Amino acid sequence: MAPLLECTDVHVAYPGKGWGSSPIKILKGVSLDIHRGETVGLVGESGSGKTTLGRAILGFAPVTGGQILMGGQDYAQVPLAKRKHMASELQVIFQDPYTSLNPAMTIEEILSEPLVVNKVDNPKKVIGELLERVNLPPNSGGRLAREFSGGQRQRIAIARALALRPKLIICDEPTSALDLSTQRKVIDLLLEIQEQTHVAYLFITHDLSVVRAISHRIAVMFDGEIVEQGTAEKITTDPDHPYTQRLLMASPVANPAEQRLRRTARQELLARQRAEGEDRWVVASA
Ligand SMILES: Nc1ncnc2c1ncn2[C@@H]1O[C@H](COP(=O)(O)OP(=O)(O)O)[C@@H](O)[C@H]1O
Ligand SMILES: [Mg+2]
Repeated sequence: MAPLLECTDVHVAYPGKGWGSSPIKILKGVSLDIHRGETVGLVGESGSGKTTLGRAILGFAPVTGGQILMGGQDYAQVPLAKRKHMASELQVIFQDPYTSLNPAMTIEEILSEPLVVNKVDNPKKVIGELLERVNLPPNSGGRLAREFSGGQRQRIAIARALALRPKLIICDEPTSALDLSTQRKVIDLLLEIQEQTHVAYLFITHDLSVVRAISHRIAVMFDGEIVEQGTAEKITTDPDHPYTQRLLMASPVANPAEQRLRRTARQELLARQRAEGEDRWVVASA
């Protein structure tokens, strides 16, 4: 079966600042497929272009080359009148549940917006089902977004993303603003929803340990290019690319003894890579 999403040699560039300056290339030929019901993790440091790829898929970034197909169709070629339907197949969850939801709106208002716009029958009933799906109390509809904790707000954002039964949800660092135990609960919820609905996720994060828990496959981005992709197991235990090896070594482990071993192994790896001339893969967040 053809992939749900096919990105082929995607380039994104922003116009340079000032007259006559050359464009700023952000994505330099990214190819990535996502199948139905699959989670693909996208990791890489801050500034590597992860959000830009998400925006390109959503149609919000200046794609200057390559092709993005959703269900075999090129978004950019679809007439505006038809786009609304396609747009409902594709949803997004952002990092910060404090800014992505209007704090002064009630949960019911937030969830009914996409339902009303898309003329979904019986929005009240659908809202009840959505609240149940994300494990929020059935009576939370009348409360304001600002009355909820970070984890609960992220549940509301997930419910809103699910409202139109999308095929793909782009999750852009959805757990990065949450504490560890809340992160775990949100990941578990996303996994449970995927089992029930067969939705696919593009899960963007700088954190390899988070992405491992949720992904089937992982793609690693460095400076606007995907340098390696493979199964979650392979990428998080035995990566081939020197940058992924460094990223893995830089990700913290919970156990202090293991962390000490990790530090030694990391120094050995860096020394080996230096000796082999693989020195340009700097991991800034280490
Ligand atoms: N609208 C824009 N105009 C110019 N440059 C941008 C714009 N948006 C993002 N960038 C640049 O693109 C690069 C990648 O950003 P981003 O995709 O947000 O990275 P990530 O999500 O991996 O942290 C950064 O260098 C950023 O400054
Ligand atoms: Mg980002």
